[in-house]
Amino acid sequence: MSGSRDPRSGKTYSARMTTRVSGTEGYGETAGERVKQYESLAFADVHRHVMHLFPTTPSRVVDIGAGTGRDAAGFAELGHTVTAVEPTPELRTEAQRLHPHPAITWVDDSLPDLDRVHALGECYDVVMLTAVWMHLDLGQRERAMARLVPLVRPGGLMALSLRHGPVPAGRRMFDVSAEETCALAGRHGLTVIHESKGPSQLGGPGVWWDRLAFRAQR
Ligand SMILES: C[S@@+](CC[C@H](N)C(=O)[O-])C[C@H]1O[C@@H](n2cnc3c(N)ncnc32)[C@H](O)[C@@H]1O
Repeated sequence: MSGSRDPRSGKTYSARMTTRVSGTEGYGETAGERVKQYESLAFADVHRHVMHLFPTTPSRVVDIGAGTGRDAAGFAELGHTVTAVEPTPELRTEAQRLHPHPAITWVDDSLPDLDRVHALGECYDVVMLTAVWMHLDLGQRERAMARLVPLVRPGGLMALSLRHGPVPAGRRMFDVSAEETCALAGRHGLTVIHESKGPSQLGGPGVWWDRLAFRAQR
């Protein structure tokens, strides 16, 4: 990827002075391919390991790193109210075009701070972090967990997945273990309620996933 990275803000400035949020490198540039890839998966398949943990009555969901909106639409179709958070403008625009559901509100915001989400003053029954956590470095993960936990209502759910394996060209990604993530969540008062490992649904060679879910204290 061309451009220089500001070590203080973590933002990357390209030759055309496009500001990229840390972790999103490579997404805007390949948005067309990402749309085809992410929209080829079904919400119910992606989340089959944790689907039984989702609320069955209308609830508030925040999907962070919402990408093309596949999951935001999946939750909206189940009757939930969804805040979809996506910092890559190319993906957010495509997502709004593909999934114009009235129960979805799109927010241009990013981990670790989520300042715009916090400014909404809401608590959520479900916090989704699908395929996003491994884009943060250790300091960002620690900061992000501290900012996320107050967004989960007492007794609420946080679900995340961690990608392992070869890093696609141009992306910023770290090999983050389930063990580290569970320990960090535990230090912030979350209890592990689901942990599983499995192959990639998109079939990349050597790619596999950890899937984790946590419950906030009541
Ligand atoms: C692998 S994609 C997953 C998209 C979607 N959750 C899905 O499962 O299809 C990772 C997403 O995380 C977003 N992302 C990367 N860094 C981020 C950050 N610091 N804060 C929030 N989202 C970020 C990217 O823009 C991208 O949409």
